Amino acid sequence: MVLLVVFMMMYAHPKLRKRQVYTDHLSRDLRENLTGIRVIRAYNAEKYQEKKFTEADDILTSNERKAHHAMGLMRPTIKFVNNALMVGIYLVGAYLIASANPADQIAIFSDMVVYSSYTAILIKAFMDMNMALNQYPRAAVSAERILEILHADTEVKEGSSTAESTAGTIEFRHINFSYPGAKGNALTDISFTAEAGKTTALIGATGSGKTTILQLIARLYTPQSGSILIDGVDIQNMSLRKLHEKIGYATQKAMLLRGTVISNVAYGENDRTDRNEQSVNLALETAQALEFVGLMDKGIHAEIARGGTSVSGGQRQRLSIARSICWNPEVFLFDDTFSALDFETDYKLRKALRETHPDQSILIVAQRIGTIRDADEILVLDNGTIVDRGTHDQLMQRCNIYQQIASTQLSEQELS
Ligand SMILES: Nc1ncnc2c1ncn2[C@@H]1O[C@H](COP(=O)(O)OP(=O)(O)OP(=O)(O)O)[C@@H](O)[C@H]1O
Ligand SMILES: [Mg+2]
Repeated sequence: MVLLVVFMMMYAHPKLRKRQVYTDHLSRDLRENLTGIRVIRAYNAEKYQEKKFTEADDILTSNERKAHHAMGLMRPTIKFVNNALMVGIYLVGAYLIASANPADQIAIFSDMVVYSSYTAILIKAFMDMNMALNQYPRAAVSAERILEILHADTEVKEGSSTAESTAGTIEFRHINFSYPGAKGNALTDISFTAEAGKTTALIGATGSGKTTILQLIARLYTPQSGSILIDGVDIQNMSLRKLHEKIGYATQKAMLLRGTVISNVAYGENDRTDRNEQSVNLALETAQALEFVGLMDKGIHAEIARGGTSVSGGQRQRLSIARSICWNPEVFLFDDTFSALDFETDYKLRKALRETHPDQSILIVAQRIGTIRDADEILVLDNGTIVDRGTHDQLMQRCNIYQQIASTQLSEQELS
């Protein structure tokens, strides 16, 4: 029995431990197949994906098979040992009884019966212990994974200030930031002020750090040095709830959740607004979304599929902008949210937003010169640093990078 336990510990337990990892791989591949189904179909990649899945599946199957073959040995072995012991006890007992004098025979017989029932109890306990030992590896791996999450430290530490303000001036002071685990800075010595009531634009090549700047304002990450202030208060000292109430963030990848138009636009909890159909309609109107929502079968109560796959890319962007408007923030953060809009809608939306929200600061990340040319200040980013700042006209005169971007987008006449 001891040999059996040692064998299980050496051979089967490591396999039971690995099972969790292999199951992870399998569900990862499965999820990828489901979320990426459009790309997979469009590129005839079914075979390739199937192969990836089959590989992960084979590894898991072979591991499970070996572990279970070993585990399968357990019951028969224990039963065999149990029965062999009984046979042994009765053989020895029979021999003792036969060789004892008749007066002692009854006593020896009852001893033998007692002895064999004790043995049975012992074996049963041993079997139970073995079962527990076999469950141990799985429980240990699961516990490790749960503890890993429970003990993970949140990098973003909350402040306590809940100071009220309504302006929304953002100030960056010498911000340096690198992503966890990445080498090299994503942002180097970024300083600027985005005034309340003004529109500040960020432009620059892909990977220049525009999204990173917006993510730092929303405190999705904490910079290594420097500080970010909203109306003079360091956001590190603010409670996250208060901070997020000040910010209407439309992310680069417009994100809709399963529900209805109204549940997506009036999304989240905010102490400052009371959101109803009227405010949702106003937000939709400003975001130039009222028209297409009106054409949907139940208007603002129309269903939205998970991930917003039931509306077009430009419609998704406008709904996500409407969400940020309905949130009633002090600061608007628009990360390339105008990219899928036609020029006219782009223009109308920005005009309507400024008219309805004259006091808020608006930060716009864009690739199109047209979207930002009338901004109050444009920051030109390159490789994580601000290389120049100014209005469209100033930058057209002196900033090389800006001129290059402009020259690929504007006509000869506009350039001159
Ligand atoms: N989560 C991350 N982990 C590590 N590095 C990252 C991460 N996100 C972005 N980076 C890196 O940081 C740099 C800046 O990325 P960022 O997303 O801010 O660029 P961007 O200017 O928004 O580009 P785009 O115009 O393509 O959206 C890039 O070099 C990028 O590779
Ligand atoms: Mg980006």
